[in-house]
Amino acid sequence: MKRIKTGINGIDQITGGFPDGRSILITGDAGSGKTIFGLQFAKMSCEQGLKTVYITTEEDSNDLYTQSSAFSWDLKSFEDNGSLSFIELAGIRAKVTEAEMSIDIESMKGNFSKFLNDLPDDTQTVVIDNIGSYTAKLTPYEFRDRFDLLVYELKQRNITALIILDSATSRELNEIALFSVYGAFKLMKRDNPYTGRRERVMDIVKMRSTKTPTQFITYEINSNGITIVSGIELDPENKDKKDK
Ligand SMILES: Nc1ncnc2c1ncn2[C@@H]1O[C@H](COP(=O)(O)OP(=O)(O)O)[C@@H](O)[C@H]1O
Ligand SMILES: [Mg+2]
Repeated sequence: MKRIKTGINGIDQITGGFPDGRSILITGDAGSGKTIFGLQFAKMSCEQGLKTVYITTEEDSNDLYTQSSAFSWDLKSFEDNGSLSFIELAGIRAKVTEAEMSIDIESMKGNFSKFLNDLPDDTQTVVIDNIGSYTAKLTPYEFRDRFDLLVYELKQRNITALIILDSATSRELNEIALFSVYGAFKLMKRDNPYTGRRERVMDIVKMRSTKTPTQFITYEINSNGITIVSGIELDPENKDKKDK
């Protein structure tokens, strides 16, 4: 199976990258680095010559540029040469709420086909950040139906997708989204039992047709974006063996 590099070295080493034409889910709390992950992947996707679309429901593209420039990522050049485009749904949402317009917001919610209708035909990679903004009032069953359909249609179009879902919404929906996708990552913070310090860890919950580590992978957000600090090779058991 062809793989698309994620732009996060450690993850590419461990998994070989995201399987081409499949959907990967990222969940995590606010500030866990979901958007940075999305931007890092979008940039790498462009560098691999893939036509990439970033759908943003929470921030406008200016904020995403500001975030990217902190890492010296030049997204503008990709936008200029046509490999990257942003679809901003944040503004639309705000306007609808403010004006209390009579259009049927309920019918817009959970209508994930909207995401697909907006995608140019030649799209190869998409980041949806954050689909949790569009799930209001759906029951877990309704969500599952519509989410399955989204994942199915993305696969039919052979689009590699990184779908971001905030962990609060994911929990409300009984984490049901994890079942529909080809792969899933959870980003979180935890207290390291050995050092007593808080650290950022990710769990590769699953990635079909791929060998994945059971252990948490420790990562940092620094001037290069997301960097894996330790994974399988540095888990306490292996480290112990090395020390002896
Ligand atoms: N230049 C930077 N250097 C180090 N850490 C950063 C930098 N920019 C952002 N961060 C960290 O990333 C967090 C935001 O990540 P983000 O991807 O927006 O989170 P999420 O989308 O999961 O809410 C910030 O709270 C901060 O901790
Ligand atoms: Mg975000």
